[in-house]
Amino acid sequence: MNMIQESNKKDMKPSAAPSADAGDTLKTSQNAKGQANKKTCLQPIPRVLVSCRNAEGEDNVLAVGYCCNCSYDPPMVMVGIVPTRYSYKMIKESGCFVVNLTDKKYRETFNYLGSHSKRDGDKLAHLGIRLQEGKMVNAPILTDCPVNIECKVVDSIVTGSHEMFVGSIQYVHADTELMDQDGNIDFSMVDFL
Ligand SMILES: Cc1cc2nc3c(=O)[nH]c(=O)nc-3n(C[C@H](O)[C@H](O)[C@H](O)COP(=O)(O)O)c2cc1C
Repeated sequence: MNMIQESNKKDMKPSAAPSADAGDTLKTSQNAKGQANKKTCLQPIPRVLVSCRNAEGEDNVLAVGYCCNCSYDPPMVMVGIVPTRYSYKMIKESGCFVVNLTDKKYRETFNYLGSHSKRDGDKLAHLGIRLQEGKMVNAPILTDCPVNIECKVVDSIVTGSHEMFVGSIQYVHADTELMDQDGNIDFSMVDFL
């Protein structure tokens, strides 16, 4: 057995029982615990706006809390979309989406886009949302959001209520005042929602 295997074996041994003194410290530092709601136990931050386009060339945006990095190399993010959203079919059809990071200035816009469906009218026209063409994907970016991440869908997983779309990052736009010369974004400058 080599030294690494030997030391792993040692690590797997149950640790010695804590001394009476250590036990006392643990008891006094514990908070009272109750069972919390499983569905709301993790609050996703940041909240993002996901923009997309369907085969007819219609644009749409929805508010999304289910968004996270899921690979560093290659760079990928994941967004969770409920199949009843109008945007769901648009992303399925086009195979792409844009994750737009939002700051506190966007609160009202975010709430409107997260509580109204395109099914009931063109919410982008209603709000006068400014759009630009994506550089690498067939979906618009939101001009007034500080960072826009263009993604191509490379996979998806139906987890339950949401389908998690895995997006390979094709291009990232960022307001120039947020970036250093290597393109690194200073997130401390964004007042996230
Ligand atoms: C804070 C917040 C977070 C939300 N997160 C998600 C989400 O992660 N996935 C999702 O499908 N819908 C989410 N929604 C709901 C959609 O944004 C909402 O149903 C929207 O009206 C769908 O628009 P659409 O039908 O035009 O696609 C969220 C709404 C809010 C307010």
